[in-house]
Amino acid sequence: MGRLPAAACLAGALLLLLLLLLPGAPGVAASPGSWVPLQCNISLDVPPERRWDAVAARFDPAHLRAALSRVIDSVVPKWVHAVIRPIAEELEFYVAQPFAGEIRGLCRAVGVNAGDGLLLNLAYESTAYCTSIIAQDSNGIIYHGRNLDYPFGDILRNITIDVDFLKNGKVLYKGTTFFGYVGLWTGQRPYKFTISGDERDSGKWWENAIAAFLDRDSPVSWLVRRVLSEADSYETATLMLAQTPLIAGVYYIIGGANPNEGMVITRNRKGPVDIWPLEPSYGGWYRVETNYDHWKPAPPSDDRRTPAMKAMNATGQENITLESIYNVLSMYPVMNRDTIYTTVMSAALPEKYMTRIRLPE
Ligand SMILES: *[C@@H]1O[C@H](CO)[C@@H](O)[C@H](O)[C@H]1NC(C)=O
Ligand SMILES: *[C@@H]1O[C@H](CO)[C@@H](O)[C@H](O)[C@H]1NC(C)=O
Ligand SMILES: *[C@@H]1O[C@H](CO)[C@@H](O)[C@H](O)[C@H]1NC(C)=O
Ligand SMILES: *[C@@H]1O[C@H](CO)[C@@H](O)[C@H](O)[C@H]1NC(C)=O
Repeated sequence: MGRLPAAACLAGALLLLLLLLLPGAPGVAASPGSWVPLQCNISLDVPPERRWDAVAARFDPAHLRAALSRVIDSVVPKWVHAVIRPIAEELEFYVAQPFAGEIRGLCRAVGVNAGDGLLLNLAYESTAYCTSIIAQDSNGIIYHGRNLDYPFGDILRNITIDVDFLKNGKVLYKGTTFFGYVGLWTGQRPYKFTISGDERDSGKWWENAIAAFLDRDSPVSWLVRRVLSEADSYETATLMLAQTPLIAGVYYIIGGANPNEGMVITRNRKGPVDIWPLEPSYGGWYRVETNYDHWKPAPPSDDRRTPAMKAMNATGQENITLESIYNVLSMYPVMNRDTIYTTVMSAALPEKYMTRIRLPE
């Protein structure tokens, strides 16, 4: 916990709200310490305000409401309430579709006001400690894996969902998120690309983010979802991820469906700070990104990078599969007590997308 900034804990508390989920909500036991998340379909042909209704019915609104108001009142800085709550009156003016409509619809389903729903969606942005790995095997197949680490896992594990976003009855893209959170930190566009986001801490989170948000810059996870929805090629996706103004810095990790397609994009709010591609011809057959700039050493107090690299080296390029990457992501401290879920995916093999909710010892 020591490595988590205070903002993370605040945001985590917000999540708590959400967590007071329904009894018996998602989660099919797969093996001790890991579960398959609830699988959901969201039809993009249904208006944004209505498309989450069936999923919302799986969760207990009374628990969600009680937790949400208590947490927001105690955790989000008061000045943020004062700035964000009134925006709910004119949500569509500040928030692009489909996010405005989806937040509105979710809030109606759960019975909270849209201002609180928006606060919650912004609060999640304020921390996501993570490990992401992209790798190319000896046959040129690109694999991508990620751990999402966050406090308040006892709540979040129960609302972690895998979502197929359907257009005309076919999967346009897929992602993993927490119920109520309309952005994506993890997702796949079949046969095109896979994306994960890892937090890049830049201090003064709320001040910078709210100012940028009011300027209509994109929350980090909303851009991931927009790219999954709109970009029809790896190249378009990388350009959008690198160049779209954001409300906070982030590391975007992207893998493609063809050999050599993979990179880590280090972002500040305005644009790219660094592009770190796979370079399989020069020994760079994998990249590991946690929450630190790759050109600087990881801090000894939170070095998940070196153990992950050692494990990748020990596995070897000829032995890389989704399973072997899952195993690397399952080793301490790459997996740790804050790990909520692990996803492994490959754009070339979209049916292999797999998320497991993790419950470390
Ligand atoms: C989360 O789910 C587990 C088992 O599915 C259950 O035992 C636990 O009570 C749930 N926690 C909350 C906060 O709902
Ligand atoms: C999602 O839709 C597919 C068909 O597109 C269907 O086969 C599947 O059962 C649906 N899953 C859920 C959880 O509704
Ligand atoms: C992994 O292998 C590469 C190439 O041999 C080497 O440069 C790097 O230091 C190794 N990293 C670790 C953490 O073992
Ligand atoms: C790949 O796996 C095989 C069998 O498990 C092992 O013998 C080999 O040493 C591995 N390759 C590397 C580079 O570690």
